[in-house]
Amino acid sequence: MLKIAVLVSGGGTNLQALINASKKGEIVNGEIALVISSNPDAFALERANRAGIPSKILIRKQYASMRKYDDALIELLKQFQIDLVVLAGFMTIISDRVIRTYCYRIINIHPSLIPAFSGEGFYGLHVHKAALDRGVKVTGATVHFVNEICDGGPIILQESVAVMEDDTPETLQKRVMEEVEWKLLPKAVSLFCQGKLEIHNERVIIKTNV
Ligand code: GRF
Repeated sequence: MLKIAVLVSGGGTNLQALINASKKGEIVNGEIALVISSNPDAFALERANRAGIPSKILIRKQYASMRKYDDALIELLKQFQIDLVVLAGFMTIISDRVIRTYCYRIINIHPSLIPAFSGEGFYGLHVHKAALDRGVKVTGATVHFVNEICDGGPIILQESVAVMEDDTPETLQKRVMEEVEWKLLPKAVSLFCQGKLEIHNERVIIKTNV
């Protein structure tokens, strides 16, 4: 059984989707062993608490340097023997050192079809506003491995959502979450835990016959 840490900062609906999938046995060979929040007031912490999952709060500003913060994060992940780190709306930058320590063992969910509307500055409602401003007819969500490039790691799963003419950033965000994010993230986590994700030339191959 692989141990999963979910890193959050806000409402935690993606964490909830993982908890629900886990309860239904849909995260094959994986268990959520730890939730780490960068925000002491995140509702995600309440969700972890209700599900009986240990949680920790890690605030970047409380550490004198990035190095010290990294040490604390890595120490925590080691202490809980974490195999997979899931960024689910985590708003603190993960340094290259942490990324190298957990090489291809950190995944992120991004609310667009990468490479569209991704990279620095594209987070939360900004992503959906940019999609609407550009007038795209489809958007979606992407689950990807995290590497040193912001939103640039190998793509695991993607799925599209139609944009409606009367969408606002808020309605689009809600539909992308409900229709795609909450489904795609547990699916990608389960594939990882079953050892079904292989990376060749920075591309993910999903092995279906294991
Ligand atoms: C989601 O839209 C996710 O794609 C993005 O941050 C948001 C997190 O929402 N990375 P929640 O905290 O899971 O509700």
